[in-house]
Amino acid sequence: MKTYHIITYGCQMNWSDSERIAGYLKKNNLQPADLASADLVILNLCSVRQTAVNRVWGKLDDIRKKNPKAKIILTGCVLVADKNKFEKHADYILDIKNLDNWLNKINNQQLTTNNKDINYFSILPNYNSKFIAYVPIMTGCNNFCSYCVVPFTRGREVSRPAEEIISEVNKLVVQGYKLIILLGQNVNSYVSQISNFQFPISNKISKFKFQKSKVNFPQLLKLVNSIPGDYWLSFITSHPKDMSGDLIKCFKNCQHLIPYLHLPLQAGSDKILKAMNRKYDSKKYLNLIRKIRRSIRNISISTDIIVGFPNETKQDFQKTANLMKSIKFDLAYLAEYSPRAGTASAKLKDSISAEEKTQRRVALNEILKKTALENNKKMVGKNIEVLIERNKSINSNKSNKSNNDIIYFGKTRNFKDIKISANSKQSTINNLIGKIVKTKIIKAGPWSLEGKLEK
Ligand code: SAH
Ligand code: SF4
Ligand code: F3S
Repeated sequence: MKTYHIITYGCQMNWSDSERIAGYLKKNNLQPADLASADLVILNLCSVRQTAVNRVWGKLDDIRKKNPKAKIILTGCVLVADKNKFEKHADYILDIKNLDNWLNKINNQQLTTNNKDINYFSILPNYNSKFIAYVPIMTGCNNFCSYCVVPFTRGREVSRPAEEIISEVNKLVVQGYKLIILLGQNVNSYVSQISNFQFPISNKISKFKFQKSKVNFPQLLKLVNSIPGDYWLSFITSHPKDMSGDLIKCFKNCQHLIPYLHLPLQAGSDKILKAMNRKYDSKKYLNLIRKIRRSIRNISISTDIIVGFPNETKQDFQKTANLMKSIKFDLAYLAEYSPRAGTASAKLKDSISAEEKTQRRVALNEILKKTALENNKKMVGKNIEVLIERNKSINSNKSNKSNNDIIYFGKTRNFKDIKISANSKQSTINNLIGKIVKTKIIKAGPWSLEGKLEK
């Protein structure tokens, strides 16, 4: 085995895991290669919706056709029922938690790894970006929302030791990373023991006192935030049931924490929320949002919503639509319900037709488009900070004297997509990619902003 190729599906957790897989393979002297020539092809799977699983079959055919000699490893979130089906089509099905043992398994020709908890977090990742880093702080989920596979595919919650998180973030900040995103299925139920309270960084940190040497999520945020440097800090994903007053206060007290929160609502009808086992009702969610907006000006809030859950009537759906209108989300990931084998809701009849689910999703998207535009318009004229992620050169027409020939794409401090036109002078003087620059917002659309570089 000399070379590898990784294909990743699913959420940021999987993308982050793929960075650790790459780090592990590189440490073992394997080099990245393209799909057609790699000795090992790793498929990092997502099972959250059936469409995600269906896509894998086509990909497997594609790999076999382009690279018949490659050994294929399946990993990531795979349901037991699918594991049995995939077994005949892959060479290995390996658990990410055993990552530091993968090559031993492969060399010993074992098809699967046992589900032993090994701290794969401590494996040094090969980060995809030079300025944005996802840092896992926990994995798994204890919540068992009735529709969701994650507790089955990733198991129970395991929090990463605070010392390890702080040391990873500190290294990233020293290397010049500008955006650190703490990652987990439910970051706000994070809890870890502090075993050895010695951090390799500023003395400021040691002034924190912990009850019974346990660190919860707001405390972890404060610790990370005390790492000195010029960087932004954020986190995904939070559960509304664990959105404490202390966590809301962090947005005020932690200067690195950017004003952006992803808080999945899932549905606006209390009947559906109960059937989903979400442990809050619409009133509690709305009050939470009001409290957050009152205390953090300019915060942008995104959410996840599922339409067409079993027995979601038109009235139930209307409640979601109404709640979305009053909350005015900045962004929402709208999903059509997909029954998942083994979950509680898979026992219920998938009663809403595919057409109806699509109609409901499209209707919510229309509401989102209006509220996002309304929120974005309020930003026009403001000077804000933007982290530049990439650029695109425009084929400049020589007869046209315009010098706006580079467009930069980035994220505002409240995590909105922005496009910035810069003239060639501004862009050749500085390579702006990976830098935080001052920008004036000049235009707003529902899905992105337009800005102009400020001196
Ligand atoms: N831990 C995260 C969610 C992870 S799954 C959280 O609780 O917020 C990401 C999103 O996929 C969920 O928020 C949900 O909106 C969607 N999703 C999960 N299971 C689904 C299903 N069976 N059908 C449709 N969408 C689903
Ligand atoms: Fe899934 Fe619910 Fe856990 Fe999120 S909180 S991962 S939706 S079970
Ligand atoms: Fe998918 Fe697993 Fe993430 S099921 S959404 S890759 S946690």
